[in-house]
Amino acid sequence: MNSNLAIGIVGCGYWGPNLARAFENTSGAIVSALCDSDETRLTSLQERHPAARRYTEFRQMLEDPNLDAVVIATPASLHYRQAREALLSGKHVLIEKPMAGSSVECEDLISMAEKSGLIIMVDHTYLHSPAVLKIAELVSSGEIGELKYINCQRLNLGIIQNEFNVAWDLAPHDLSVIIHVMEEVPLVVNCQGGSQMGNGIEDVVNISLGFSRGRFATIQNSWIEPRKVRQMTFVGTQKMIVFDDLKAIEKIKIHDVRVERPPRYKDFTQFQYSYHYGDCYIPRVEQREPLCVVCEDFVQSIRGNVAPSSCGRCGLEVVRILEACSESLRLNGAAVKICQSRMSPDRSNALAVEKSLIELNA
Ligand SMILES: NC(=O)c1ccc[n+]([C@@H]2O[C@H](COP(=O)([O-])OP(=O)(O)OC[C@H]3O[C@@H](n4cnc5c(N)ncnc54)[C@H](O)[C@@H]3O)[C@@H](O)[C@H]2O)c1
Repeated sequence: MNSNLAIGIVGCGYWGPNLARAFENTSGAIVSALCDSDETRLTSLQERHPAARRYTEFRQMLEDPNLDAVVIATPASLHYRQAREALLSGKHVLIEKPMAGSSVECEDLISMAEKSGLIIMVDHTYLHSPAVLKIAELVSSGEIGELKYINCQRLNLGIIQNEFNVAWDLAPHDLSVIIHVMEEVPLVVNCQGGSQMGNGIEDVVNISLGFSRGRFATIQNSWIEPRKVRQMTFVGTQKMIVFDDLKAIEKIKIHDVRVERPPRYKDFTQFQYSYHYGDCYIPRVEQREPLCVVCEDFVQSIRGNVAPSSCGRCGLEVVRILEACSESLRLNGAAVKICQSRMSPDRSNALAVEKSLIELNA
């Protein structure tokens, strides 16, 4: 392997250029090839990375023996095929979310990578966000009491897509965070939605996830909203956390608020809930671009031959829930059980690895 890992990126549309910039700023990696079937997009990105070789055919890029790893930033319908071809060519793979179009495809990619000793990572960017890691730390330390539910809104006037619905596009962000903070996958999902544009692809969905011990999470995703909203609320028995990702600074606020039942009462006339209004405070969060942490994690996983914190198995868990959402939509919102994974990731040290990556580079 070269001193610098040679990275090839396929997909030079909206997100690919962000990945190219982030890898260019990652020590130990170099963007050495770019691929897009659209010549104009390819040229536009290559102008910013003139040392990178250019390809309009993905298979030709894979024939480059000097390439160590491939980053897949094409539409989701191509993820499985391209990741499979890359693994067959002996390249490590970083796939954009969602990992693939079905859990069977994800499982196939995971076993291919494991058999050939290659790294497969999914870009669940939020798992590398210092704000999300701070929230996970606060929750697991008991700072907010017992976490009861998470409420997420990811809304805007988005690009209407014609292959996968809005849940497959936006919910991977929410789901990856929810699983990470809840430290478990949900047991059951209900999903309702509609196609306001009438093309049969849901552009608005409401997802409800049930967890053990009566905990739950709700997600609202829409491409048809006038305002851009990226908010998550974490409600604990003692405190609540609001995460607003659109804020440049002060993304997390901890509210010391709660409602308490009276400890004793004889009859209903004595019963009064008491409302606690305490301080609202803003914890310090490292200022690091999550995508740069993604790229560093990928490079370090390849170098150390260790699973990245957002591994293929994390991608599979998210896709399983998306499949259950699609099934629930088909059943008009009926509850669908989530198949519990025989391929669960080891979550035990993921948080510690991510924290050390962020602190190391802060
Ligand atoms: N992690 C994040 O926060 C984040 C944000 C945005 C998008 N994404 C993901 O990135 C991926 C790409 O999204 P996007 O918004 O950039 O899409 P896009 O449509 O803007 O770009 C996709 C690019 O792939 C190219 N392409 C299509 N077929 C190809 C082929 N066979 N060979 C080579 N190139 C091909 C297209 O020409 C286009 O330039 C999606 O999986 C999306 O979910 C992730």
